[in-house]
Parts: sequence; structure tokens; C-alpha cells
Amino acid sequence: MTSRVDGPLKVTGRAKYGADHNLPGMVYGYVVLSTIANGEIEAMDMTGAKSSPGVVGVYSPFDPLELKPAMTPIFGETWVPLQNKEVAYYGQPIGLVVAETYEQARDAAMVVEVSYHRRPAVTSLEDGLASAEDAPESRGTPSSLSVLAPDVESIEDALEASPVVFEATYRTATQNHAAMEPHSAVAVWDAGQVTVYSGNQGANIQAMELASALGVEMSSVRAINPFVGGAFGGKGRTSTPAFLAAAAARTLDKPVKIVLSREQVFTATAGRAATVQKLTLGAKEDGSLTALRHDSWCSVPIDRSFVEPTSHGTSKEWYSTPNLSISQKMVPLNIPLTTFMRAPGEAPGSFALESAMDELALKLNMDPIELRLRNNSTAPPGNDLQWSSKHVDECYRIGASRFGWADRLPGGRTDGDWLVGMGMATAMFPALRFPASVEVTLRDDETAVVGTSGADPGTGLLTVLSLVGAESLDISPDRITPLLGDSALPPGGMSGGSTATASAGSAVMIAAAQVLDELLALASAPGAPFEGMEVTYAEGRVHGDALDMTFGEVLRAANRTSLSAIGSSAPGEELTKHSFSSFGAQFCEVRVHRLTCEARVSRMLGVFDAGRIINAKAARSQMIGGMIWGVSAALHEGMEIEENGRLANGDLAGYLLPVNADISEVDVHFVQYPDTLHNPVGAKGIGEIGMVGMAAAVANAIHNATGVRIRHIPITIEDLLE
Ligand code: MOS
Repeated sequence: MTSRVDGPLKVTGRAKYGADHNLPGMVYGYVVLSTIANGEIEAMDMTGAKSSPGVVGVYSPFDPLELKPAMTPIFGETWVPLQNKEVAYYGQPIGLVVAETYEQARDAAMVVEVSYHRRPAVTSLEDGLASAEDAPESRGTPSSLSVLAPDVESIEDALEASPVVFEATYRTATQNHAAMEPHSAVAVWDAGQVTVYSGNQGANIQAMELASALGVEMSSVRAINPFVGGAFGGKGRTSTPAFLAAAAARTLDKPVKIVLSREQVFTATAGRAATVQKLTLGAKEDGSLTALRHDSWCSVPIDRSFVEPTSHGTSKEWYSTPNLSISQKMVPLNIPLTTFMRAPGEAPGSFALESAMDELALKLNMDPIELRLRNNSTAPPGNDLQWSSKHVDECYRIGASRFGWADRLPGGRTDGDWLVGMGMATAMFPALRFPASVEVTLRDDETAVVGTSGADPGTGLLTVLSLVGAESLDISPDRITPLLGDSALPPGGMSGGSTATASAGSAVMIAAAQVLDELLALASAPGAPFEGMEVTYAEGRVHGDALDMTFGEVLRAANRTSLSAIGSSAPGEELTKHSFSSFGAQFCEVRVHRLTCEARVSRMLGVFDAGRIINAKAARSQMIGGMIWGVSAALHEGMEIEENGRLANGDLAGYLLPVNADISEVDVHFVQYPDTLHNPVGAKGIGEIGMVGMAAAVANAIHNATGVRIRHIPITIEDLLE
């Protein structure tokens, strides 16, 4: 149980986030947003803004900044503001006003006059369904996939032949990441080099995108983000403030700060797609699945830049079935951009699949856990590669016993005016990793530095670096200085896809082994203290036949202040041998008031099989956060888009998020089976799985309590009023 190394800085307000940087001569930008959902900007009258007090620069598609679309090998093309006069959604960044103070910039932005050629906008997923298009490949999976038993001709035949068939359609809402830190940036140029302070999920990746958009070499860009106030996928790509601040600072030759207001965050940054998902399950009377069909539609922005891959999770991770058919379609809408959001695909996908499994269990008169155990897979359907490590059965068993599942009654129970029910669901998220490089430096003061560009958006990665570094160097963690969030450090990949511990941790182990080899070589080199001796290393010391020195002493004897090595790790051969995933079981108890119909989650428990847990305290926090977000998805969150594309609830007053009063007991348990087939650290992903399945567990518990099945989220009081 290790507390976060950056905890004291954060709770005392000393941690400097991107927008906390203030530089001499700095000016402030305010972003202008569109007020139509589809059309072309005819004109932007900037006269009033230009003559407003303190204004130093005004930019628009008619008077653009020097920027172009960003292209990187990681994300492909990333949208960059002010490139043309097209408006594809309400609240799209279309201009920038820069002034000596934030208030002056904001006031001037209010008097920008925009006229548009309007076009009809399609803003509702239901209205857009008729225009659905096949989604392109995503995460290596084709948009449609069919795995059929040898003697079966079609999924329809397989379903037809199934003794029991259950079919239903589920819907999930569009969401905003709503991270505490709004997207923001401070940019400053010096001698052709730009430094950008901006929260992101990988400093190296941000530098790459900025370099591409600014048309400069990557070596001319330094992206710095030692502290990030939440990201969840919403800071994977470079934000509008970062692009605009970097370009405006170059044009004005002054440091520029841009911070989105909370309302602007809702449209000027990307969020989660809304989905419609049709599930058809075929089963035998004993519960074993004979066919599984999952057809999904998701909203996509007009540029079709991101697909929420809800069906793909089903194909890759879930249940054993001889016949599987998935399809993934996208519905282009005039809505804000969509992107990765915690458990992209799996979070909304699991609401549909895990609700449908609960409904099938009821139809079969079978315990929902028993149904899942019957269909436990040893490999993804249609795939020969067995799971490297899978203990989901143990998660169900431990969870059931810790949660008191045996006390669950088919129709729930009552407690005064409250109807009380229990629900459960399976959680899964693929175990992935990305290439990462880490530098480990031994210093002559007996400490070591472990650094990689990456980012810690609140996940605890900084502390993981110090723990894995300490273990690899065989010294105590308080002797390690972990460094993150600076593109000047070796490329550390991204805190995304639940990969960072496996990716960076593996590279730490390689770098540490390398630097210790070099230390031993240095210690026994000609003229060095251990010359001619067999040397070994343990506990921060070099041992020889007749001699024993700390690494600091060895360095000082060699007149060195430090010794460094860079280690790199990347996914490789293991991908040809096994399939990899984290697994879990979610349980919750919901109380629904008989008269007011408010639903309250009174208890929840998640039991997870996520490989080795490096820091139990931070890992528990990750899971709690994910589970609470699952409750939030189930009962609170959803962007309400008006017909004209304006968000009806684009602020933290109208966009409901759970507060303390909404969340009671949250229990987390890990079964720990280190998965060294996946990576040398043995850790699988924990960043996203915490929210997978939770929304379904809530809906399933509501059904158990009330007998009412709600097939969409968020579930509101209105849904439960008879
Ligand atoms: Mo994320 S949705 O793991 O960036």
C-alpha cells in the first residue's frame, strides 16, 4: 500500500497543471464557438472585437493562424481548428480572440458577429439511423464478423435452430469526459522552439501532433504535462487550446494562455458516442449459448473520425459460442466530435450484452452467474489463441460470497418504502501494451531517476514508475525520483487503453537491468576498485571478493556523477501465442423508492482478475473510480442535444454526475495471478475495466428490485414511474 508520490503536491495545491503556468508578458486567448450545427460561415465581423480594450489578436478561418491538420502514426489525422469555413456541429471552435487579460478576451469574443449559410442538421441518433454506414476496421477487427460452426450456413439458421432465443435492443447516451481540469494550454516560443504546457495522455504524442500542425520538426516542440487533472481518453489527442495557443504565440511572439470554460469543454472537446445495440442470443435449455448476434450503431461526427466499437468487444472478449455474428455501423451526425472514453466499446457494449445475458437467465430460469459460468470461454470465439490467464470464475465465486448473492430473491425484497434488488455483470477489457522507452539513471548521491515522457492523468503511473524502478534496482522506493510528462524524456507512449503499467513498467525493468550491467562493467574496469574481481549487484551495492561498495561510491570512484541507460519494450511474439484480457465480476444492490421511483445504488463490489497489482492502494482507487462512473452512466450521465444541435445540459449544473450522496459503499477485491506471458511486470490493465459491466449490473438490479426492465441508460425516475 503506497501513497501517491505526487499526492502531497496535489492536495496542497502545489502541483502545477498546464494552465497554472504564468509567464512574463503572457496574453490570454478566448475561443469563439459556432452557434449553428451545420453550414458554412459566410462572414465573421471582427471589428468590434478588434477595437475592444486590450485585444492583441483576432483569428478566424478568414484570418487564420499558421496551422494545418495534424497527422501522426498513432492517431492518423487529428482535427485542428480554423482550417476552413465549414461548421459541422453547434459549439465548434471557429475563432480566437487574444487580449491582455482573460476577461478582455472573453468580452471581445462576445461581440464577434458571425453569419452563416445554414444547412439542415441531423442531430439525433434515432433520426440518423436510416443513413447508417458500415464502420471501417477498428482495433484490427473488421466492421462485421461472422464465426459459424462447420455445419451452419448463417447466423439466422443458428438462431432458428436454438431452443431458446432472446432478442432486445439497447441504447446508451452520449457523454462528456467532464475531467476536473478543463482543456487548456500555455505556449511560449523561444528561438524557433515552442514549449507547450497542456494536460495530455502522452507528452511525446502531443509533441508529435503539435509539430505536425505547426509544420515544424518534432525537436522544435516540447510538450510538458507533469500533472494532468483527469483525461479518460479526452486528452489523448491534442486539444483546441493547445493548437491555438502554440500558433498564436508564434504569430504574436508572446506567451499565450487559453483555458476552455466548462461549457466550452462540452462541445469544443470530443466525447463518447451514443449507441443503439441489438442483441440476439440463442441458447440451449441448460444455458449454453448456441448463437450470439450483436448489431451496433453508434453516432459519429460528420468527419467520421472515431467509431465506438461496441460489437468488437463481444467478438474479442466475451462468451464461448459456436456461432457469432457482429456488425458495427456508424451514423454521421452534426454533433461534437467523438473519441476514446474510458473503456471505449466495452463500456456501452457491456451494458447491452450484460443486460441481455441477465434477461436470458431470467427466461431460462437460471441464476445469472450460473449462465455466465456455463459460457466461460477459454479463447475468444473463432480464435485459436487461448487466454494467457483467466480467473473470472473465481471472481464470480468470491464476489457472490462477499456480496451475499445467495440472499438475492427472484423478485427482490422490500425495506419499508424501498424496493431492494441485486444485480451482477461480467467485466472485461483487453490487456494491451504499447511501445515505450524509459531512462533509468543511477546518481552518485545513491538515488536513481526513472523517466519517460508518458503522462499520469491521475492513474498513479508516477508512483508505479517509482515502485517498479525500486524493485528492479533493488533499492527502496524513496530513493527513486520518477519523472513523467515531458516530451524531452524518452518516448513513453500513452496513458490510454489501460496499458501504461505494462508498457512503461516493462521498459523500466529492461533499462534497470541494462544500467546495472553497465555499473558492474564500470566497477570492474581496468583501474576501477573491483578490477579483476567477479562482481555482483544487490540492494544498491556492488559486491566483489574482498570489496563491497554502494553504487554511489562506485560512481564517485569513477569520477561520474551519474550513469544512465534507456530500455525499450514493445508488444511482440506473445501476440502470436495467447489472447490477453483482464476480467472481473461486478455486483450491486439498488434501492428504488416505491413512490418517488428514485434509484439509489446502496452497495457495490467489483472483483477483478487483472494480473499483478503493483500498488494496491492506487489500483483500488482506479477500480472505485471506474465503478462509480459505471453508476453514473447508468443513472446520471447523458448529453441532451436539442434539435438545432445545441446542448441543453452542457455544464456541470445540467450534466448530472454522481456526488458523494449518490455513492455509498464500494468494495473492491483483486484475485492476483501475475500474467508474465503478457509482459515481464505481470500486470494487466486496470484503467478501464472498473466501469465495464457496472451499468448493466445497475439495470439488472433495478429489474430485480422492481420487475421493470429498462433497456437504455441513463435510467431516470421517469422511466420507473409506472
Ligand atoms: Mo483511454 S479511453 O484509455 O485513453
